[in-house]
Amino acid sequence: MSDFSNSIAYHYHDRTKYDPETINAKGRQIDWSQQPIPFKEYKIGTIFDLKPYISDPIENSNDPTTKEWIRLSKLLLFSYGLTAKLPTMFGSFIYLRSAPSAGGLYPAEIYLISKGTPLLPAGIYSYQPQTHTLILFWQDQVWQKLQIACFRNPVLEKTELALITTAIFYRSAWRYEDRAYRRICLDTGHLLGNIELASSINNYRAYFIGGFQDKMLNDLLYLDENQEGAITVIPLEDKFKNPSKFNQNITALPSKINTNFPKLKDGELLPCLHQSSSISATEIQDQTRGENNYLEDKYNFPFCLKVSIKSQPIDWKNNLSGLENTMLNRRSTRSYTGANLNKNELNALLDFTYHPENYLNQNLEPNPDYFSLNLIETFMAVSGVEGLEEGCYYYAPKAQELRQIRFKNFRRELHYLCLGQDLGRDAGAVIFHTADLNKAIEKYGDRAYRYLHLDAGNLGQRLNLGAIYLGLGVSGIGGFFDDQVNEVLGIPVDEAVLYITTLGRPRQGY
Ligand SMILES: Cc1cc2nc3c(=O)[nH]c(=O)nc-3n(C[C@H](O)[C@H](O)[C@H](O)COP(=O)(O)O)c2cc1C
Repeated sequence: MSDFSNSIAYHYHDRTKYDPETINAKGRQIDWSQQPIPFKEYKIGTIFDLKPYISDPIENSNDPTTKEWIRLSKLLLFSYGLTAKLPTMFGSFIYLRSAPSAGGLYPAEIYLISKGTPLLPAGIYSYQPQTHTLILFWQDQVWQKLQIACFRNPVLEKTELALITTAIFYRSAWRYEDRAYRRICLDTGHLLGNIELASSINNYRAYFIGGFQDKMLNDLLYLDENQEGAITVIPLEDKFKNPSKFNQNITALPSKINTNFPKLKDGELLPCLHQSSSISATEIQDQTRGENNYLEDKYNFPFCLKVSIKSQPIDWKNNLSGLENTMLNRRSTRSYTGANLNKNELNALLDFTYHPENYLNQNLEPNPDYFSLNLIETFMAVSGVEGLEEGCYYYAPKAQELRQIRFKNFRRELHYLCLGQDLGRDAGAVIFHTADLNKAIEKYGDRAYRYLHLDAGNLGQRLNLGAIYLGLGVSGIGGFFDDQVNEVLGIPVDEAVLYITTLGRPRQGY
């Protein structure tokens, strides 16, 4: 395999690593006076109020149009709606949403494009979580332009609605500087996890498109490319209308590999990676670089302890009511007691996250879209799980077993690796999603960086929802000492750590 360590994606990853030697070297203070507002308001346009459709009496309506509105209203509320309001010491409020977000900064925005339906006239809408409304700010037929921007992805021929997630970079970069791009994509991945599941609950099939012409799509949405950019397109198929199957949806296309970038100063890495990983109209799309379907799990270690992790599926109860409630009430756990989890809980959680095919009879999508799932691996540090020896394991999703790499209690080390966050130390299990960056760049160019973090966030959201439903505590961790994680836990050095999810017993009230 060629060496792509001179690509911008690789360079970005290396330069944005947290390292114990340098993390405090810059002595940077957060400028609270510049804290971004997490809402983009559209003041002019036609307002479609979605609030009436989430109140109890109307939920039982038999009117077909009302029912359509209810589905759309719930889809957006469960995906990215406001679900909690916390008072601040200044008398204002912080609003939390159904999707988690690193630092609560919510860099993602949701747009909707309609081809023209009885409910939604053709045009471009912005979803406004603060009022739970859609604002039609551009009334025109733009579906064909969307199709062209998405290289005529076939799912757009059979659908009439598409969500588009965009990111406003500064919202996250204000706090996390260049490393923010990782969190922006992870956050968006969590949001995609919600959109996918909320779509199933409301009888839509959500498809993901990550390969599109960036400039064309950004222009279509009137985005300022210096500040923001489209990240994903999500056509929604109405399962009540001629459901057709697109089993081979093309979710990811490669971009170029940029090795010819100038010496970048701090603050220039994020925009350079985003720009370099964009796709333009003139690029010929070669979709066949590298092999994507692996029959075997990537790692098998001779003589290692292997533990079967098979489980009954999680029962989400009547009409997925358990999942609905979880999506509306989910919160990131702020503190764990340090008490043990048990292995059955872990088994069930891994089943829901990595085996969607077991949920078909509960009306969930058995084969949900990802961008580059075959390139992502899962490792787990077990510090306190009843029925499981302490240590670090590789999770083999196909064999459904944990394969032990190291046996040791890593609590003290996990505390350090998670930048001194108690969540790492007190968790019963800590999950690491990783990828071989070189291999990913070979297949998807610099854009691989987006796809990997989107998928890791999406898996993180399934872990979050499953954990909360099972009564466990859970929180994502986006800040960690990158190289030290591999070193300490014995995770192969080629596996770049993308994201951490901690699982533990929640402390009361946290
Ligand atoms: C990508 C990502 C990274 C996160 N990193 C951390 C972290 O390092 N430490 C932490 O305590 N919480 C972390 N969180 C949790 C957020 O702080 C939390 O989602 C946010 O405060 C909103 O609260 P909620 O999840 O309860 O809605 C992270 C969440 C995401 C999605």
